[in-house]
Amino acid sequence: VRYISNHSSGKMGYAIAQAARTMGADVTLVSGPVNISPPANIKLIGVTSAQEMHDAVMHDIQQQDIFIACAAVADFRLADIPTHKVKKKDGMLTLSFEQNPDILKAVAAQASPPFTLGFAAETNDVETYAKAKLERKKLNMIAANDVSLSGLGFNSDRNALTVITKNNKISLPAASKYALAIELLKLLSSEY
Ligand code: PMT
Repeated sequence: VRYISNHSSGKMGYAIAQAARTMGADVTLVSGPVNISPPANIKLIGVTSAQEMHDAVMHDIQQQDIFIACAAVADFRLADIPTHKVKKKDGMLTLSFEQNPDILKAVAAQASPPFTLGFAAETNDVETYAKAKLERKKLNMIAANDVSLSGLGFNSDRNALTVITKNNKISLPAASKYALAIELLKLLSSEY
């Protein structure tokens, strides 16, 4: 009856899957529910929770050379999901949340991980937080996404990214998500 969500449409992730396929990769796309058609000739695994996404990713990860984490996965889930509508009452409503698994961190922590490209959706100090995530999660590359910019990012057809590695930082200016995905994957190929 009520839910808590975010603005992610899946457009960026699907554009990356399409671009990777066009560039010759065998692509497995693990996706939450979205309103867009999947690219042709890829393997699509549909999930509806962070835990399901974690399990699907970990099940397949040994067969993958590259892992790209673009999904806006919830960091927390409700500790108890009510089976009936929560009725309105006066005063505050308190909900308890428990932590979801960090899928990207789990992939990168494996004994022989694939090349990992994470995203960092931030609204302030974007590059600083992205670089911290790159180091903390032990990633090969991170795409810093300033989601405070109007007309870009969440649910838009366009986006802009700053791609950061241990020794490098490259800005990819605003473009369609597909054009941006191609540029992002070219950068990835140069680091892979
Ligand atoms: O879907 P669109 O409408 O096209 O929007 C695209 C986008 C804005 C969602 C995308 O470009 C983007 O920025 N994705 C990352 C969103 C996010 O959750 O960022 P984060 O900084 O909270 O997470 C850091 C990284 O950890 C991400 O790679 C994320 O996929 C991963 N993560 C996060 C939480 C979790 N439980 N498990 C994870 O693996």
